[in-house]
Amino acid sequence: MAEKKTFYITTPIYYPSGNMHIGHTYTTVAADTMTRFKKMLGYDTYFLTGTDEHGQKIETKAAEAGKTPQQFVDDIVAETKRLWKLMNIEYDDFIRTTDERHMVIVQKIFRKFYEQGDIYKSSYEGMYCTPCESFWTPSQLKDGCCPDCGRPVQKMSEEAYFFRMSKYQDWLIDYIETHPDFIQPPSRANEMLNNFLRPGLQDLCVSRTSFKWGVPVDFDEKHVVYVWIDALSNYITALGYLSGDDHLYKKYWPADIHLVGKEIVRFHTIYWPIMLHALGEPLPKQVFGHGWMLFGGDKMSKSKGNIEYAQPIVKRYGVDTLRYYLMREMPFGADGNYTNEALLTRMNADLVNDLGNLVSRTVAMIEKYFDGVVPAPAESGEQDAALIERFEALPDIVEKQMDALQFSVALSEIWKLIGDCNRYIDQTEPWKLGKDEALKPRLQTVLYNLAECIRAIAVYIAPTMPATPEKIYAQLGVTDPALKTWESVKKFGALVPGTKVCKGEALFPRVDIKKELESIAAEHEAENAKLEALAGKKPEKKEEKKPAAETPVATYDDFVKIKLIAAKVIACEKVKKSEKLLKETLDIGNGQTRTVCSGIAKHYTPEEMVGKTVVLVANLAPRKMAGEVSEGMLLCAEGPDGTLKLLTVEDGIAPGSEIS
Ligand code: MSP
Repeated sequence: MAEKKTFYITTPIYYPSGNMHIGHTYTTVAADTMTRFKKMLGYDTYFLTGTDEHGQKIETKAAEAGKTPQQFVDDIVAETKRLWKLMNIEYDDFIRTTDERHMVIVQKIFRKFYEQGDIYKSSYEGMYCTPCESFWTPSQLKDGCCPDCGRPVQKMSEEAYFFRMSKYQDWLIDYIETHPDFIQPPSRANEMLNNFLRPGLQDLCVSRTSFKWGVPVDFDEKHVVYVWIDALSNYITALGYLSGDDHLYKKYWPADIHLVGKEIVRFHTIYWPIMLHALGEPLPKQVFGHGWMLFGGDKMSKSKGNIEYAQPIVKRYGVDTLRYYLMREMPFGADGNYTNEALLTRMNADLVNDLGNLVSRTVAMIEKYFDGVVPAPAESGEQDAALIERFEALPDIVEKQMDALQFSVALSEIWKLIGDCNRYIDQTEPWKLGKDEALKPRLQTVLYNLAECIRAIAVYIAPTMPATPEKIYAQLGVTDPALKTWESVKKFGALVPGTKVCKGEALFPRVDIKKELESIAAEHEAENAKLEALAGKKPEKKEEKKPAAETPVATYDDFVKIKLIAAKVIACEKVKKSEKLLKETLDIGNGQTRTVCSGIAKHYTPEEMVGKTVVLVANLAPRKMAGEVSEGMLLCAEGPDGTLKLLTVEDGIAPGSEIS
C-alpha cells in the first residue's frame, strides 16, 4: 500500500497568559480546521501546539502572583488546555518549553551553534522591551518606545552570547527570493526583505544573565538561552530532533505550514530559517502570517480593556458558531474586526436561515410526503443540472482555496451550494408537487437531490464546524462512514435512497440581535471578571457614584479609615487611550510597587513625575480607568486657574511612611 502523504502544521506556542481571548483562538482554530481538512483528504497529519513558558516576563508575573514560575505556568497551561478542548481543537502534541524533552535538546542545539562558531561570547548594551522579550537598536525605537508594542524600553548591559546572523543574510535573501511560497502572503515576504534583510542583519543576542527562568546554557550556567531561540526550537524538539527517538522528525519534518500572527513573522522567517540552516536542516515549506482579529479597530489586549473571551460565546451559541465566524469573517492574511453584532448577524443569516432552514425544511418535506424515507430520484427537471454542476465542481474549488489557507473563500463557496439548494426549493416548489399525485416522481427527485446536497454540505463543513455534521447526518439518517468522506462528495448521487430521516432540533438558535446584545453585555461582565480572577487579576470595581454636591460631615472614625502613605514615583507613562491620564509605578516601601492612574497628564510630563515622593490614598478600591486598573489615588491641590499641583513629601521620608 502506498504511504500516505504527511502534513505537519504548527501554531505558535502561546505565552501563558491565563486570559486568552478570542483573538488568541484564531490561529489555533485555523490550524485545527486545516488539519481536519487534510486528514479528510487522506493525509497523515500532525498538528503541534503548546506553550512558551520561559522569560523574564513570566518570572516577574509569577513573583507578583506569589508563586514559583513553575507553579504559575502549570496553572495557566491547565487553563489553556481547557480552552482548546472547549474550542474542539484536536492537536497531536502539546509541547511546553519547560518540558525536559525540549530543554535538553535546546541545550544541545545551543552548544552545537557555539561549537561550530555560529555563537560567540561578547557583551550587550541596548534597549530591551521586557513584554516583547526583544532588544532594539536606538534607530528601531518608535518615539523612544518599543516599535512592536509601544511600551517603554529599558537600557540593559550584560555579558551575552551572540549569534552571527549577518553571516547568513545573503543566503536568506536568496532563499526567500527563489522560494516565493516560503513566506505567505507575499506582502509579508517583501516586508521582511525590505525592512530587515536588505538593510543588513545585526548579530542577535541569544543569552541572558539578568534572570534565571530559562533554559540554562549547559557550558556556561549563569546564562539562559534567549526565549526566541528556546521557543522556535519547539517545532523540532517536539518531533524528537537530536533525541534518542527521532522517528517523528524523520517522518514529518520539514513542516508544511507554520501558522503565525503577523507580529511574529519576523522571528519565523529570519531567525528560525537561519537557525535551521546553521543546523544543516531543511526549512519549513511555508510560514503563513495571518492578520489580527481586532476589537473596535484595535488589537485585543488586557491593557486596552477591549477583550472578548471565547467561553461565554461558546456557552451561548455553541462552539461551531464561533469557529464558523472566525474562519468566515476574516479574509485569512488580513486583519478583521470582531463584534458580537457581526457574530450574531452571521449566525442568524448563514447558520440559522441558510443552513439550518435548508436542513429542517428538507427533512420535514421528506417526512410529510414520503413517510420520512428518502425517495429514489425518478423524474429529472430543468432545474437539476445547475445544482448538480455546482455540486460536482465544488471539491476542486474548496481544495484549492483551503490549500491557499483561504478559509473564508472556501466557506463562501460552500455557502453558494447552500444558496443554490434554497433557490432550488423556491424554483421547484415541492409543496405544489406534493399536492398532485402525478407530480410525485418529480418530487422524489427534488427531495433526493436536496438530501444528497445536504449530505455533501455536512462533509464540507466538518473541518470548520466539527460538531455539526453528525447532527445533520442523524437527521438525514446517514450512518455509513463511506458517505461522510471527501471521496463521497466528488460525484453526485452517493446517498442511498430508502434511509429514514429523523427531524431533530434546530441546528442553531435564532436570536433577536438587539435583545441578545444587551444580555451578552450583562453576562460577559460577570464571565469576564471570573476569567480574570482565574488569571490572578484583581477584580475591576465599577466606578463609584460621585458624592452629592454638598460636602457631608466626616467623623473621626471615617477619617481614620483612609490610609495615606508616602510613595515614590519610579516610572511613569502616558495612558494611550486617554489625553488626561498618566500611569505611575510607585515604590510603596518593603520592595512593593503599585500602579496608579492620575488625571494630571495636562499638568505634568512623565519625566517630571519620576523621582517625586507623593501622597497616595493607599486603601482605595481598585478601579478601571481607560482600560488600566488604578490601585489608589494621588492627592493634588487645584489652583484657581484649574492647574493641578501634586502634594509631595519632603526628602528623607521613606516610601511607605504613613501620613496622618
Ligand atoms: N510565544 C509567542 C510565539 C512563539 S512561537 C515559537 C507568541 N505567543 S502569543 O501567545 O502572544 O500569541 C500566540 C498566537 O496568537 C500568535 O500567532 C498571535 O499572533 C496570535 N494572536 C494573539 N492575539 C491575536 C489577535 N487579536 N488576532 C489574531 N491572532 C492573535 O507570540
